Amino acid sequence: MSTTAPAGEDTGIAIEGLTKSFGTQRVVDGLSVTIPKGQITVLLGPSGCGKTTLLRCLNGLETFDSGRITIAGVSIERPAHSGRELERRVSEVRQRVGMVFQNFNLFPHLTTLENLSLAPQLVRGTPRERAQARGRELLEMVGLGDKADVYPSFLSGGPMQRVAIARALAMEPQVLLYDEPTSALDPERVDEVVEVLRRLDAEGITQIVVTHEIAFAYEAAEHVVVLERGRILEEGAPAAVLRNPQEERTRVFLRRFLSTFRPG
Ligand SMILES: Nc1ncnc2c1ncn2[C@@H]1O[C@H](COP(=O)(O)OP(=O)(O)OP(=O)(O)O)[C@@H](O)[C@H]1O
Ligand SMILES: [Mg+2]
Repeated sequence: MSTTAPAGEDTGIAIEGLTKSFGTQRVVDGLSVTIPKGQITVLLGPSGCGKTTLLRCLNGLETFDSGRITIAGVSIERPAHSGRELERRVSEVRQRVGMVFQNFNLFPHLTTLENLSLAPQLVRGTPRERAQARGRELLEMVGLGDKADVYPSFLSGGPMQRVAIARALAMEPQVLLYDEPTSALDPERVDEVVEVLRRLDAEGITQIVVTHEIAFAYEAAEHVVVLERGRILEEGAPAAVLRNPQEERTRVFLRRFLSTFRPG
C-alpha cells in the first residue's frame, strides 16, 4: 500500500477517531475533524484540553493509540500501522510537516543562517551553498535579511520566532503547525509574526495555529476549531464560532477573551 496520496488529490488534513492516552488519562478522545488545505485554522480550547498533544500527533512527535491521520498525503492508522511501517510513515510525515514552538527552540550556538541551513543539509543532503542561499532568501522573506550572521540570543522574541518559522520553511513543509507562537512575545511584536503567517497563507501552505489570540483568529483564520477534553466542541468560520457560538461551553470559554476583544 502506498503512503502517499495520488497526484492531484486534496491533501488537507483528515483526523478520524483519534485517541491518545497518557497512562489512564485519555487526552484525545475519539476526535474527528477535517482541516482545510491551504488555509489558516486556529485551534482554541482551555488549558489541558489536548491542543499540544494533537499537534504532536499530527507531526509524528507523538504516537497515538487508535484512529487515522491523513496529512500532507500520508496516512497513519493505529493500531494497524506499527513497527517499521509506522516508522516509515512517521518519517515521511516529519519531512512534510513543520512545527513552530512557543519558545522558538533555536540552536543557540548557531547563527540564524546556520539555524536555517543545517537541517536541509543533514536530512535532505542539500549542498551547503544551496542550503545557505535558500536560507538567505527565507530570512529575507521574514524581514530579517540583515541578520544572517547574528546569534539568536542577540534577537528579541519577535525576530526569534520569525527565524524559527523560516527554519521550518527551509524544509519545504506542506503543513506548518504552531503551538502558541506568539504567547512568549511582547504584544507589540505579535503583529510582525502574524504578518508572516498571512504571507504564507497567500502562498497556499496549510497552517494550524494553537493560540489564545482571539483577535488573530478572528482576523486571519479561515477556520476555527474549539477543543474541549480531547474532543471537538465546535468548529466553523471564525465569524460564526467567535461571534455566535452554538455551544454554551464555547461561550463560557470565549467570555474570558471577549472582555478584551469584541468582534465587530
Ligand atoms: N507526556 C505526557 N505525559 C503525561 N501526561 C501528559 C503528557 N503530555 C500531556 N499530558 C497531559 O495531557 C493533557 C493535555 O495536555 P496538552 O499539553 O495537550 O494540553 P493543552 O491543551 O496543550 O494545554 P495548554 O493550553 O496548557 O498548553 C494534560 O492533562 C497534560 O497534563
Ligand atoms: Mg499546549
